[in-house]
Amino acid sequence: MEHDTKTPTYKTSDPSSFAYKSARDRWPAIITGAIDDVSRTVSSLPPDADKDVVAEGKAITSTLSTLKYELQHNRVLTPILDDGQPDVKGYNAELEARGPPKWHDVQWLFSECYLYSRIATNFSMAKTKFWQGYDVFGRQKMDTFRSSRPAVVELASKYRGIIEQIRNSKSHTVVETDNAEPGAKEVEEAERLLFVEMAEICLWGNATDLSLLTSLTYEDIQKLQGSNARKESEKNVLVNDLGRAFGVLYAAQKAGQSSRRVDIVLDNAGFELFVDLVLAGYLLATGLATEVVLHPKSIPWFVSDVVPGDFAGLLEAMQDPKPFYQQSEGDEKKREVLSDEDVENIRFLFEDWSQLHGEGQLILRPNRFWTHAGSFWRMPNVAPELFDDLKESELVVFKGDLNYRKLTGDAEWPATTPFTTAIGPLGPSSGLRVLALRTCKADVVVGLPEGKDEEIRAMEGGGRNSGSRKWAWSGKWAVVQFCDGKA
Ligand code: F6P
Ligand code: MG
Repeated sequence: MEHDTKTPTYKTSDPSSFAYKSARDRWPAIITGAIDDVSRTVSSLPPDADKDVVAEGKAITSTLSTLKYELQHNRVLTPILDDGQPDVKGYNAELEARGPPKWHDVQWLFSECYLYSRIATNFSMAKTKFWQGYDVFGRQKMDTFRSSRPAVVELASKYRGIIEQIRNSKSHTVVETDNAEPGAKEVEEAERLLFVEMAEICLWGNATDLSLLTSLTYEDIQKLQGSNARKESEKNVLVNDLGRAFGVLYAAQKAGQSSRRVDIVLDNAGFELFVDLVLAGYLLATGLATEVVLHPKSIPWFVSDVVPGDFAGLLEAMQDPKPFYQQSEGDEKKREVLSDEDVENIRFLFEDWSQLHGEGQLILRPNRFWTHAGSFWRMPNVAPELFDDLKESELVVFKGDLNYRKLTGDAEWPATTPFTTAIGPLGPSSGLRVLALRTCKADVVVGLPEGKDEEIRAMEGGGRNSGSRKWAWSGKWAVVQFCDGKA
């Protein structure tokens, strides 16, 4: 706490904040979903299943129900059980230092991280192996990836075309010219345009988040993910620093730097992970990066976040996409057989990414720090090795809303506060280059031009005179912000 920003942070007691709504409406629904998932798994076990597994599954539903009761009845947050992980101490010490607080009057960021850690210990403390390795949000994550099929098919074809063109062309990214050797300027421009497009695909992949869009339909997901949706959404990117991020990668490549690493601090599994890999594959194919390090979470987190098993699950689904998509529940449309061409394109991606992973160019690097309670302002003191490791990178991309909240300390900054100020110790002279790709799903927003917040608030659904920044809650608007801490 001592390393956090002194700017006041969002709290679950403030009726005008999304924190208030989250604690009262969304979290109980998320715990109910977890209880349903465990019950469904228990009831689908075969009649001769291990009795201990069945009994423990029932016990877990009951401890999850207790958690929900405590939350809904505004009880005190109780210590997290010690499952042997080093961060438990930190959580419990902070709990003590904060009061201990009650659910409806507590710092939003701390309590939401605490919630997912509490849910996770139900499984990490289990006696049976079955429940120890169980991802209570795994089923939801896979189902949503299945529903992303039209966008996956569209992107697989596009990605394959781009990668093949890069490989077949001496001056890689220049496309569709009249056979004349393109000049260096044109190569740079083509590479920049494709980088921006790939990064924007990657940005909008963050719009589908399971913790927020709990009642998303198949059609809703398709609308959010297609290329038309992306074009329509361009005007909703309030700040776009992608050109600056491209500039540093291109300069490193041009200077012939032998190691050019890009890190992606991942957010959600399924479609968002898929588009993160599209960006990673593009960076590696063009040489804008020589290695890409992906940072997943170590425990099931904020419903949809990537854990290492989701990476493996995604590749497995793509290796044999026909049966994967045919398992879809519901109407015929979802189960339509994939064409041979679609299957080939998806397999192309599978082979490309598996090879990059196998050859050590695409690396998965979990760290418990990502599931700590605090903001990233604490990183230099609490996780100095991770901080030093990230300094080795040319660019660290932070995906999604929660990472943005953690970068900015989830504090009530005026919207015009420079991004470089709001990220504190990760800002100027930190040695880190930070790029946030975030669709807005929470109250905190910084780096906006004067008057922009007021202008959007005045729009339909923007919050008007309610005192709430409602426009920033839905994932409709986005910010892409860069800070060069190496300059
Ligand atoms: O605002 C809703 C919310 O669930 C927040 O709790 C959290 O910051 C965010 O969405 C998760 O979104 P993302 O997956 O983009 O981090
Ligand atoms: Mg997430």
